[in-house]
Amino acid sequence: MPIVMWDKSFLLGVTQFDEHHQHLVGLLNQAYDDFTAGATPESVSSILDELVDYASYHFSAEELWMREQSYPKLEEQCREHEQFSKRITQMLNDQRSDKKFLMLEVMTFLNDWLTHHILKVDSEYGLYIAAKGMPINLA
Ligand SMILES: [Fe+2]
Repeated sequence: MPIVMWDKSFLLGVTQFDEHHQHLVGLLNQAYDDFTAGATPESVSSILDELVDYASYHFSAEELWMREQSYPKLEEQCREHEQFSKRITQMLNDQRSDKKFLMLEVMTFLNDWLTHHILKVDSEYGLYIAAKGMPINLA
């Protein structure tokens, strides 16, 4: 049972970023599946490291694109991306070093953040692009 159920409501209509988001959710679901199947914390956290790396690639691509599109909420997005990166890196470090966070707490944070960020924050750029009359893809 995945921690995040991917469905069409996650689609923003910008194919490149819809694919990125799906990949991020896929990595979280893979970590969660492994976790519930009894994988070691080391192997679960190595998938989460991959998620963090991929998120940083994704954020850079999104920010560049938003700049090109003159997206008015670029600064807000950059701030959220930066706060997220700091927070998750800290959580994973703490999880590894002093076990301050349970692995489940880390994954719950990722679930809440990714779901909220895609459905509420990123969805606004989907609406912005649609309002500009640019082609979107919600298939
Ligand atoms: Fe995003």
